Amino acid sequence: MLRNSTRLPILLCSVLTGCGIADETEVEATAGTPFPGVTTYESEQFVLGQALFNRTFTPEEGLGPLFNQVSCSSCHDLPTSGGHGAEPVTKVSDFDERTGCNLLKEDGGDLLQASVVPALRTAGILPERIPVSATAVTELRAPALYGIGLVEAIEDEDILIKADPDDQDGDGISGRPGLGPDGSLGRFGSKAQHATLSEFIENAIRGEMGLTTPAHPVEEMPNGLPLPEGSDPVPDPEIETSDLTLLSAYIGFLAQPPRRTLDSPEDQAASEEGRQIFANIGCATCHTPTLVTGNHQSAALNRKRFRNYSDLLLHDMGPELASICAPGASPSEWRTTRLVGLYLRSEFLHDGRARSVRDAILMHGGEAESARYRFQDLNPELQQSVLLFLRTL
Ligand code: HEC
Ligand code: HEC
Repeated sequence: MLRNSTRLPILLCSVLTGCGIADETEVEATAGTPFPGVTTYESEQFVLGQALFNRTFTPEEGLGPLFNQVSCSSCHDLPTSGGHGAEPVTKVSDFDERTGCNLLKEDGGDLLQASVVPALRTAGILPERIPVSATAVTELRAPALYGIGLVEAIEDEDILIKADPDDQDGDGISGRPGLGPDGSLGRFGSKAQHATLSEFIENAIRGEMGLTTPAHPVEEMPNGLPLPEGSDPVPDPEIETSDLTLLSAYIGFLAQPPRRTLDSPEDQAASEEGRQIFANIGCATCHTPTLVTGNHQSAALNRKRFRNYSDLLLHDMGPELASICAPGASPSEWRTTRLVGLYLRSEFLHDGRARSVRDAILMHGGEAESARYRFQDLNPELQQSVLLFLRTL
């Protein structure tokens, strides 16, 4: 008896669910809401973090003196708080084949701050300009943050297994892991330049809003020049570790938006056909449909299968898309964009240059060129099926 009852769950799990891995819909909910499985405490943290994410900061509360926007949600607000954004940020860098990527620290860093507080303006300091040392400039669009807590919870090995830096399998697609600041595996940012969400958030609050943190209690310098006396009277750090923890809870618990359902049976059939073509023509080689999380302290994220449509690796996308570099990424390398929630967006690619999904596909070069050609070779009806499928993700 005892033996049977202890065995049964193991049997069930291997047959039905692939052993303890949940169905992908378990982590899906309306855009802007938390994962369905969060505890009461986690959902309280989520709500407090959301309020902080939406909060408008003033210079008296530490905003600036150099900044881009007054709140996180100024840039991550479409169609809800935590979503993508239409406000671009300007990033610059200088790349040299021999010496690598220079983030222009002496000239104010790779992120430009386009605004200054009134006190700085009075002192004659203008918003940052593109330094002459910059050899590349790009506008970056804020991506949606839905479901990225799951991205953080993937085991390193599950990302590294898809990397093929020297293209040993000869399929024309390499894929290199991103590089975090301390040499760890990078998975956040369009250059996969950050390893953890908390690290990204800490950077964002300083870089985009000019709030100093316990880890970095010193203000940014306008194009690398010292700040005039009295332009920043608020004592540093301007934000507490507990606030950063709440922001991490909000972003870390943001659910994945569910798939868009299609009403007509014809559309459903076409979309299903599109799904198969997407895999057959090689899109899924980089846009990995599903991934799983590892063990996680929160049950809502623990060992979940989820739709990602990205391998989270860097790919050379060719000269047309090349611009800025990062310490672990050359100008033409970009992290495969997650296609989850694509139907919520209207501008595509890192700088929003594509106004339709079709244009975004046609701008794929480099490692993705042959997949793009295979897409172009499809008859218009089959191309339409792929586009329809993509708009359900
Ligand atoms: C001025 C616009 C702007 C503001 C304000 C802003 N962001 Fe962002 N955010 C961006 C852009 C642009 C990116 C893409 C950066 C990149 O690709 O390297 C981004 C990316 C992110 C990412 C990484 C997403 C991913 O998929 O890797 C996180 C997390 C994030 N932002 C959190 C925040 C938080 C928290 C705040 C407030 C402290 C904030 N952002 C404020 C523009 C903004
Ligand atoms: C070699 C890897 C690779 C292959 C193959 C590939 N992609 Fe991409 N895809 C990327 C990368 C990297 C980006 C981000 C490029 C950028 O932002 O400049 C991207 C971006 C996109 C975007 C824009 C998403 C957004 O929100 O901005 C769409 C749509 C897309 N890919 C669809 C496809 C389709 C359809 C195919 C097959 C025809 C395909 N991709 C093949 C790597 C790939």
